[in-house]
Amino acid sequence: MRSPRPPGHPASARLVVVALLLAALTGGAAAGAVRSDGYGRARKLHMKNKVLDMFYHAYDNYMAYAFPHDELKPLTRSFTDSLSELGNLNLEHLPQDYNGSALTLVESLSSLVVLGNLKEFERGVLWLSENLTFDVDARINLFECNIRLLGGLISAHLLAKDYISQLKDGLYHDQLLHLAVNLGNRFLPAFETPTGLPYAWINLKYGVMENETTETSTSGCGSLILEMGALSRLSGDSRYEAAALRALRKLWSMRSSLNLVGTTLDVLTGKWIEYSSGIGAGNTILFSVCLIVIALYTNDFYIMIAGVDSFFEYLIKAYILFGSDEYWDMFHSAYLAVQKYLRHGPWYHEADMRTGEATYWQLTSLQAFWPGLQTLLGDVAAANLSHREFYNVWQRFGVLPERYLLDYGMLHPTEKYYPLRPEFAESTFYLYQATKDPWYLEVGEAIVGSLNYYTKVDGGFASIRDVSTMKLEDHQHSFFLSET
Ligand SMILES: *[C@@H]1O[C@H](CO)[C@@H](O)[C@H](O)[C@H]1NC(C)=O
Ligand SMILES: *[C@@H]1O[C@H](CO)[C@@H](O)[C@H](O)[C@H]1NC(C)=O
Ligand SMILES: *[C@@H]1O[C@H](CO)[C@@H](O)[C@H](O)[C@H]1NC(C)=O
Ligand SMILES: *[C@@H]1O[C@H](CO)[C@@H](O)[C@H](O)[C@H]1NC(C)=O
Repeated sequence: MRSPRPPGHPASARLVVVALLLAALTGGAAAGAVRSDGYGRARKLHMKNKVLDMFYHAYDNYMAYAFPHDELKPLTRSFTDSLSELGNLNLEHLPQDYNGSALTLVESLSSLVVLGNLKEFERGVLWLSENLTFDVDARINLFECNIRLLGGLISAHLLAKDYISQLKDGLYHDQLLHLAVNLGNRFLPAFETPTGLPYAWINLKYGVMENETTETSTSGCGSLILEMGALSRLSGDSRYEAAALRALRKLWSMRSSLNLVGTTLDVLTGKWIEYSSGIGAGNTILFSVCLIVIALYTNDFYIMIAGVDSFFEYLIKAYILFGSDEYWDMFHSAYLAVQKYLRHGPWYHEADMRTGEATYWQLTSLQAFWPGLQTLLGDVAAANLSHREFYNVWQRFGVLPERYLLDYGMLHPTEKYYPLRPEFAESTFYLYQATKDPWYLEVGEAIVGSLNYYTKVDGGFASIRDVSTMKLEDHQHSFFLSET
């Protein structure tokens, strides 16, 4: 039986989000007049300039005080080489001699094009072409490196083909694609497991390390196909797409009879470790303990990776990008199961994948991407309902806390941070594009207001460590410039 499809046509070779942003922005400009939708032209222009100022405040400080290291520490105006730390809760195997991969610059390139700054885009592309290398003794998280570095390079390559060749003939000859291929080749050994499910960690220079952990997350196996698929299509080498697709098919084959997937699994045995199923960041006791220990020793919090969220996002976006029915069929079954077993009114709780019984009643800020996904799908009423509830929590605290206990109506005891995450803003953007309801512009204005009020410091934008005190943390994540 064929499942129903959302309206629209599969997109051609463009990474989906950048394409949508560019379409929205250039489409609006080409149309000339701003729609009279009750928000007002002058106010739109004012907000646009405000956001431009924010971008350059974050970007200029990064370039001045952190580049070519990975990320800016805005309170001390220094840097951190965080690529090898992302998700590395025990801070093991940190490289001695690593000077970063200009991670924030890589992630900013597509934003520079969206903002119309082709000169700076070109400067960044040429710097990376000559200076970026992945031949470093650094153990990196495959998921984080894929979404940030490989995704950043591929989208910048596509944009460079369009924009740099327009500017200067011959200046761009696929340097970023060559870098992406080089990085993709370093990913491949992670997939050499009996199951085809990739290790979560790989050393860029030496491959999978001795005694490497075999535990990974659903996102870690199911959020590779967009970048690795695009890399294969662009380079003509089918290995990247084949590896990511094999992992995705294996992961999907591990779903329960209810079509739910768990949160963590073992790549050698192909067995689930954590059976609780959700749409955001997973909840494991070990995880909370790790966060406390790290906070004690390093005075810093790290982004969690034991998630499921991007598994769903990648299925629908893979369908849009590549047009294969297989992705749609997986997505459709997974989506119906979520709506049936995890949804409770506007909220989504976690449930045991085997029984469908509720396990944790928690809101996580990663879940805020869900209304955006539902908007892509055309389920605008459900998206609107959840988005409004997220906005209520945002208003209550000023930003979205990482985890909020729905059953107790209170903050999670340790996960009280807001690391400048993009998900709620992204959903607001999609809902506005779909409905043109000016109310979403007002929500956008509130988001911009909160970010400026609580997180802007002289040296950039700082994450919030605790939303109950608004105490800041010395970290401007690279995704702030590319996603938020
Ligand atoms: C990192 O920078 C230091 C100091 O500039 C330098 O000595 C070292 O060789 C660099 N490491 C690598 C891998 O290039
Ligand atoms: C590569 O890096 C060096 C050192 O930062 C810099 O002088 C050079 O201009 C860079 N190359 C390009 C093409 O920007
Ligand atoms: C890997 O584990 C074995 C057995 O526990 C141990 O003897 C060996 O030293 C470990 N290797 C590394 C590099 O930690
Ligand atoms: C969203 O929900 C609000 C409040 O229920 C309603 O007034 C509005 O019309 C809804 N918008 C859409 C696009 O469904």
